Amino acid sequence: MIDSFGRPITYLRLSVTELCDLRCRYCMPEEGVCKLRHDQMLTEEEMVRAVQAAAKLGIEKVRITGGEPLTKPNILSICHRVAQVPGIRDVSITTNGIRLPELAVPLRQAGVQRINISLDTLRPEKYAYITRRGSLDKALAGLEAALNAGFDQVKINAVLIGGFNDEEIPALAALTRTWPIDVRFIELMPMAGNRDFGPESYIPVSRVLEKLPEAVSEKEEGVARLYRLPGARGRVGLISPLSQHFCASCNRIRLTADGKLKPCLHSAEEISIKGLDDAAMLDRMRQAIWGKPRCHGALGPLSRSETPRSMNQIGG
Ligand code: 5AD
Ligand code: SF4
Repeated sequence: MIDSFGRPITYLRLSVTELCDLRCRYCMPEEGVCKLRHDQMLTEEEMVRAVQAAAKLGIEKVRITGGEPLTKPNILSICHRVAQVPGIRDVSITTNGIRLPELAVPLRQAGVQRINISLDTLRPEKYAYITRRGSLDKALAGLEAALNAGFDQVKINAVLIGGFNDEEIPALAALTRTWPIDVRFIELMPMAGNRDFGPESYIPVSRVLEKLPEAVSEKEEGVARLYRLPGARGRVGLISPLSQHFCASCNRIRLTADGKLKPCLHSAEEISIKGLDDAAMLDRMRQAIWGKPRCHGALGPLSRSETPRSMNQIGG
């Protein structure tokens, strides 16, 4: 379906849980979240019906997100059923990687084609700091498992944080020399739940290019501008929600674990589909796509996202 500003909406991000086994400082609070009541969350059946409705309106790609989707006990069944929905030709997942040693192969077998792993640093003490409880070894074991499981594409998401990991830009980018992976640097977004970051933390992804003068520009892919280091197997991607927003070409809607359609990541507007029958779900989804705002407001250390949700409650 085309929205009211002429954008084809073909991509759904489906968050299957708010829970996570880590507590990344830019994403969620230390004490976690107030657990949703079971009856507030979408059931697996409702998730599948929502994807069916979305596919009827022209959604072709689904990304499964969280929280951490691999903490969801029925994650394999969800992925399998989503991948079977007629019209859905691309299923991907975003994960912190911790549970991939057990789940990479089953996810691939369930029909997940592409996988994104969050990894902001290659230093064990920094990884433990930013995730508040994670172990770098486990994340790297997850990455290795993903590389061995035969996914069509493996990407790393690194949130760029001034004074934290900007010194590691060359080291993170160098992963693309060794492995056929894309390493994507994402500008830190100021969300309701992450007020601890000072202005110095918000640096533009142009900093990445300053540190990688040898990078050669390649095509754009979705929201990422892509570059390649000479001779590298993978690519370096830049995602710039702050310095150069991509609203004009935005092709996505989001569905939260508690059944709220979010036409825009940074807007407070939400449309509930919990408990609806197929026809009503389709109607609400049409309404959400048509009502997708033209653009989000300014984002920066002093102008936060308008959504009251933290990132784990949306799915990135
Ligand atoms: N700014 C930018 N990226 C974020 N993510 C989570 N919170 C933020 C934020 N505040 C990223 C994670 C993950 C993806 C789902 O979103 O690193 O890779
Ligand atoms: Fe968990 Fe991902 Fe949020 Fe980190 S960014 S706390 S791994 S959901």
